[in-house]
Amino acid sequence: MTATRATALFDQLASVYDEVLPFFAGFARQHVEWLAPGPGTRVLDLGAGRGALTGAALARGCRVTAVDCAPGMVERLAAQYPQVREARVMDVHRLDFPDGSFDLPADAHTEFEARVRAELSAMEPIVCAAGARLWEGTTPA
Ligand SMILES: C[S@@+](CC[C@H](N)C(=O)[O-])C[C@H]1O[C@@H](n2cnc3c(N)ncnc32)[C@H](O)[C@@H]1O
Repeated sequence: MTATRATALFDQLASVYDEVLPFFAGFARQHVEWLAPGPGTRVLDLGAGRGALTGAALARGCRVTAVDCAPGMVERLAAQYPQVREARVMDVHRLDFPDGSFDLPADAHTEFEARVRAELSAMEPIVCAAGARLWEGTTPA
């Protein structure tokens, strides 16, 4: 989904998102347990929404940066998880971070896995030391 379409859609949903889709947090917790990042791992949560994956990674002691194109999502995530390293409004297709910023880019319940995965592979030397895609049936890279 383009950032423009996603922003329009998810900004409208932001205020009720976790109430309407409460099971996403449980799935994200299981995914993070499966990825098993250690404390201090620098996680980039792509399309973070209200922070299902962010919260699970923070609970493991990770240092989490969350990005989402919908300002309403980012605002609520930052309010709910004040310990997040950074929460930014950003298009995942136009990531803007310095070299070597992350150990683990991950995403949960997004539509851009395949495309972002390909882009992250190409970007690995630039933005991350290791990559993982977070979705049922996949294995960490
Ligand atoms: C189905 S929600 C998943 C949210 C969260 N990861 C979770 O598991 O609850 C998809 C999220 O991806 C975001 N998104 C979609 N396209 C995006 C893009 N191009 N750049 C950044 N965020 C995007 C949406 O705004 C939305 O918050």
